[in-house]
Parts: sequence; structure tokens; C-alpha cells
Amino acid sequence: MNKTKRPAVIAGNWKMNKNRAEAATLITELLPLVKDAGCEVVLCTPYTDLETSLALTEGTGVKIGAENCHWAESGAFTGEISAEMLRELGVQYVIIGHSERRQYFGETDETVAKRLRAALNAGLKGILCVGETLEQREAGITEEVIAIQVKKALAGVTAEELRRVILAYEPVWAIGTGRTATEEQAGEVNGFIRGLLARLYGEAVAERTTIQYGGSMNAKNAAGLLAQPDIDGGLIGGASLKAPDFAAIVAAAGR
Ligand code: 13P
Repeated sequence: MNKTKRPAVIAGNWKMNKNRAEAATLITELLPLVKDAGCEVVLCTPYTDLETSLALTEGTGVKIGAENCHWAESGAFTGEISAEMLRELGVQYVIIGHSERRQYFGETDETVAKRLRAALNAGLKGILCVGETLEQREAGITEEVIAIQVKKALAGVTAEELRRVILAYEPVWAIGTGRTATEEQAGEVNGFIRGLLARLYGEAVAERTTIQYGGSMNAKNAAGLLAQPDIDGGLIGGASLKAPDFAAIVAAAGR
């Protein structure tokens, strides 16, 4: 297991938080705290904050991402935003298949695959979220659920394209609940995902792919989680809304 083969990436997922003024305040406070980051830092913000975020982070190492994109290039899809629209703004990353989208907005493995395809076609980097519910974990089918989610989303994604995909293991029961997966639980599923990637793409590709953990990761538990051999970063919800907390997680990921 050689972590140096893949970039460590800490990404904030602001979800539906922060208006433009609040976004500017948070980023202005955050930038000096992460200027010497030893990992890649990404902020995934609401669509309405993207321009502000891009302007404020220009010339810094911090990258900006969106939280979703549609699969079509354009058309009659009221309320949706295309991957190409994001790319044209200067956005580099997009979260795909977050469990809140699957849970509340009818996202399926099929639509997740289509959105990831669109993101890759537009030249974006995708942060592909997978994770089991509490019910599925208790039924002992975590690995089966994860395998289906990963395989369906990556069907048709080439090894070359996978360079622009980060996987994020986010157990649904750990999101926003304060109930983090233990280091062992998270490490185990991340290891399972890497094994799956090795079967699908070969060992070398699996070794170079960044696999994050997300779900109540915070300034206190980040170092332990990130010390796991297969956890290469984090997708951070609540703690990404406070500059000192997010900066502490970034510091914990520095190598
Ligand atoms: P929390 O860090 O608030 O649990 O959210 C995790 C998450 O959903 C990141 O995408």
C-alpha cells in the first residue's frame, strides 16, 4: 500500500448553506489557513456561490467544485445545470451521486452514471459518492451495495478517465449525524473499494486512485481516519462550514 501514489484530497461539501456574502467571509478566513496545504483542497459550493468562490480563490491552490450536474448538454430540464456550464465558469470538480441526492431527489445508479459521464465529457473531475444505509449495514450487505454502486457508476469509464474520478465512501448513517464510522469500519470499506477497482482496472490504477471518506469527519477524528492506509482524503459537510475546523482537517491530511 503506497499512499504517495495518489493525491490526498480534502473537499468541503457546503450543501445548501452560505449565501454569497457568507461564502466570501468563509473563503477569506480559510485561505490564509490552508495556503501551505500538503494536500489538494476543494470547496464544493452551491451554484449561486460558484462565481464568488472562483473569484476569491483565483491564483490560490484551492479548487472549486459544484454539488451536482445534469447529464444532458442542454435542453428542457428546468432547474438543472449542465456540466459544460460549470466548466465554462471555471469549475473543476463536481460531486456526483451524493446520498442526499439519492435519498431526496430520486437519484439512481443509472442517473449517477449518466451524470458522471457528462462531467467527464465536459472535462470536469468527478467526486463519486457511494455508501450504504444503516439498514443495509445491519443486514450485512454493505459490500454488495457498494460494489453495485461503484460498478454501475463506472461502467464505461476508462482507466484514463478514472484519473479524473475521486471516490468518496460516505456511509449514509454517518452523514450529519455526528456518528462517524470507526477508523476500522471506514478503512475496511475504502480497502474494499480499492480491491474492486483493482479487479475492474488492475492494481496500478487502483493504487493511483484517491478514495475519500465522508460522514461526520471533523477536526478531532480526521487524523485517525486519514491514517488508515486506504483513506486518501475526506469529503466534509458540517465541518467545512467553519474555517478553523476545515483547516484543521486539511492540516491532518498533509503528508
Ligand atoms: P457531514 O460531514 O456533515 O456528516 O456530511 C458529510 C457529507 O455528506 C459530505 O458530502
